Amino acid sequence: MINCSQSRASLLEVDGLTVEYRLKGLSLRAIDDVSFAVRPGEAIALVGESGSGKTTTAMAIAGLLSSNARVSSGEVRYRGNRLPIDNDNAMRLHRWSETSVVFQGAMNALNPVHRVIKQIAEPCMLKLSMSRDQATVRAKELLELVGIPADRGTAYPHQLSGGMRQRVMIAMALACRPSIIIGDEPTTALDVITQAQILKLLGELRSRLNLALILITHDLSVVAETCDRVMIMYAGRIVEDGTVAEIFTKPKHPYTRLLIDSIPNPANGKKMIRPIAGDPPNLINRPPGCAFHPRCPSAMGECAIEIPRLDKLGSRRVACHLHRSSLEDKVAAHA
Ligand SMILES: Nc1ncnc2c1ncn2[C@@H]1O[C@H](COP(=O)(O)OP(=O)(O)OP(=O)(O)O)[C@@H](O)[C@H]1O
Ligand code: SF4
Ligand SMILES: [Mg+2]
Repeated sequence: MINCSQSRASLLEVDGLTVEYRLKGLSLRAIDDVSFAVRPGEAIALVGESGSGKTTTAMAIAGLLSSNARVSSGEVRYRGNRLPIDNDNAMRLHRWSETSVVFQGAMNALNPVHRVIKQIAEPCMLKLSMSRDQATVRAKELLELVGIPADRGTAYPHQLSGGMRQRVMIAMALACRPSIIIGDEPTTALDVITQAQILKLLGELRSRLNLALILITHDLSVVAETCDRVMIMYAGRIVEDGTVAEIFTKPKHPYTRLLIDSIPNPANGKKMIRPIAGDPPNLINRPPGCAFHPRCPSAMGECAIEIPRLDKLGSRRVACHLHRSSLEDKVAAHA
């Protein structure tokens, strides 16, 4: 649960959110009791392996869950008000004007037969009731804001590079002056240099427009420069949540440690990605207790029985039996 002091300062609160998908008569719990808060202008990252529930979390916040999804418990609040996240129509007003999403792979998201300026102007006309002329002026301003000369707006998506198309997607996301941008792997399909440019752009826009940012990625190395806080997800649950410095320099959860160890670091001779042994769990047949226990080098007997709670430990939260707050308190008391 989110506490009251968090709640007062927060722009967005995700509180005990659980989402299940129906799949061939079976139920798959994609996210389980996910809680976090985002303050105005804050940048957080959701990081985890494929299938850990990052996109489901983002889609739930934006009210974009697929038709076979069900919010089985929890809620999302925006400026203290509960959002109707399971009602696509009711969420339409909120999307674009308060929370916008930038997806991976702009080529699929942009309409290939319309010039990009038209595609940016459209939400301005629809959501801000601007005339076509006003919307065109705004679209040109937005293109300049994301680093594209306004006269390139006459191009069709296929005439732009991957990085430029992703900038167009960001311009569209900003069209209705949202307070939160969710970037779901916004740089995954891009080369390393373009990826760095897009992340830099998001960082600049964030401070210029006081935007909150939820950056979703499976690549921990991209968040250090861009985000304030990192939430590590595993099998649909948050397993660790801390500042970038805490997560990178003193990770507590064994999965976070392995994720950090997997990042190549030429400074210490680690040139290759070192994958984590074993596979992510099958969520239809989730392991009992801590879902990470079959892969965890520190697993103990109780790990296969009891699901660890996400306990608050100082400024961070950790879900691991090695770090139960009661145990750490006892250790500190005897130190
Ligand atoms: N529409 C759907 N119907 C059924 N299952 C789904 C659906 N969308 C996602 N899932 C399942 O829910 C779980 C979480 O998926 P999700 O896409 O949220 O993970 P992710 O962390 O974003 O992964 P990736 O890094 O691959 O994008 C996975 O087991 C996935 O197979
Ligand atoms: S609870 Fe146990 S299995 Fe899970 S991460 Fe902690 S030590 Fe490993
Ligand atoms: Mg995803």
